[in-house]
Amino acid sequence: MSFYEDRVLPHLINIACSSKPNRKQRDKVVPLATGEVLEIGFGSGLNLPFYDAQKVAKIWALEPSEGMRRKARPMVDASKVDVEFIDLPAETIPLEAGSVDTVVVTYSLCTIPDALTALEGMRQVLKPGGRLLFCEHGIAPDENVRRWQRRVNPAWGRISGGCNINRDIPGLLQSSGFELVVDERMYLPGMKILSYNYWGIARAAD
Ligand SMILES: C[S@@+](CC[C@H](N)C(=O)[O-])C[C@H]1O[C@@H](n2cnc3c(N)ncnc32)[C@H](O)[C@@H]1O
Repeated sequence: MSFYEDRVLPHLINIACSSKPNRKQRDKVVPLATGEVLEIGFGSGLNLPFYDAQKVAKIWALEPSEGMRRKARPMVDASKVDVEFIDLPAETIPLEAGSVDTVVVTYSLCTIPDALTALEGMRQVLKPGGRLLFCEHGIAPDENVRRWQRRVNPAWGRISGGCNINRDIPGLLQSSGFELVVDERMYLPGMKILSYNYWGIARAAD
């Protein structure tokens, strides 16, 4: 791992993901988490203040990057909720099938190399009736914005740790066996190629 990936990128990601619009988005989904929670791509722990400590028993914080886990450590130490790191990628979730009540994934499906395999794993670890809470940026609805997303995506991925700006988030969720129970979408303030957000609640399809 390069110095940029280990030391610089965690700092940049933390800043990029801390904006006021992003915080508003987190507040729409994270407080809905209950019971045993698996958070995918825990990053620097920016969702932690949004969990309802009365409703959450434990958070499994899956984050493969040591630099991101290091950045998250102060938030974890200050948290009222029991947090345990899993230092593996989301394509290999080590929890038992049917063992968690809630999976939380925010601004990570863009970066996970094999998002479909990761989502299938998330579906498997959910208890029957368990919920996936998601908030992601992705492909825009307007063709002129999509064209720029296609152009910029390769260069963006190289400086951002592999982030893709044009993933079809609802399509990935449905292809991996989820149905969307709550499906919200809009542009956040900012550059349109980076800011089209998808958020809501998904459950394993019957
Ligand atoms: C843009 S950051 C978002 C972090 C956090 N979820 C948030 O909302 O602030 C994307 C995160 O996905 C993580 N990531 C990259 N590849 C991953 C993988 N294969 N499995 C799980 N997480 C991964 C990165 O290390 C990074 O922490």
